[in-house]
Amino acid sequence: MKSTLQGTPAKACAVTGPQTLANQSATFQMSRACFFAVPLVALAACAPPGSAPATTGGGAPAAPSAQTFDVGPIRPAQAYLEEPEYASADIERGEQLSLACLACHTLRPGEDHLLGPNLGGIFATPAAAKTGFQYSAALADSGLTWTPPAFDAWLAAPASFVPGTSMVFAGYSAASDRRALIAYLLGVTEQRAP
Ligand code: HEC
Repeated sequence: MKSTLQGTPAKACAVTGPQTLANQSATFQMSRACFFAVPLVALAACAPPGSAPATTGGGAPAAPSAQTFDVGPIRPAQAYLEEPEYASADIERGEQLSLACLACHTLRPGEDHLLGPNLGGIFATPAAAKTGFQYSAALADSGLTWTPPAFDAWLAAPASFVPGTSMVFAGYSAASDRRALIAYLLGVTEQRAP
């Protein structure tokens, strides 16, 4: 039996079934476009290794490690709050950002541990020091003291700062957001629960 489609563009595009001529040529052009696009995609995926920037996701500078991090001077929370960068921070913004923490943490002294430890009185104390909470070995061995700079590095990317931590939180990438959140936490983590 002789096919009436033989020799037409429809055959070159492996198009079957009845179609208008306009549809057939559109399909043909699409398949040509795909043919050329594939090697381009493959090339893009094969950038030379040397061209990879030394950054973590989001273009941020390479994350610091808790083990070698300089936490700076250890002072009472109130003293940190008086430092210009926290005194001028947007506390309301900080409170909004803290809502993400409340899924796992209570913030005021004496409250219960949840999925994460209670954060009451956390500033200027060593990491992983709350009784009655099962910390990861990674945080327990981090050698950190929770100064604002340590908090800042932690909140930027917990899993990079303390690899192996059990805190599953991606981090806040904007420095101004972390400053606002820390300013809010400096106040609230010192307050007794109402
Ligand atoms: C999904 C749950 C979860 C969320 C959300 C979360 N955390 Fe945590 N957090 C944890 C867990 C679990 C730990 C204990 C980590 C470990 O042992 O490695 C922890 C530990 C901490 C510690 C160390 C406490 C200590 O005693 O050393 C701080 C500080 C902290 N979180 C702050 C925050 C802040 C601030 C936020 C909000 C931006 C937040 N976390 C969001 C679960 C969470």
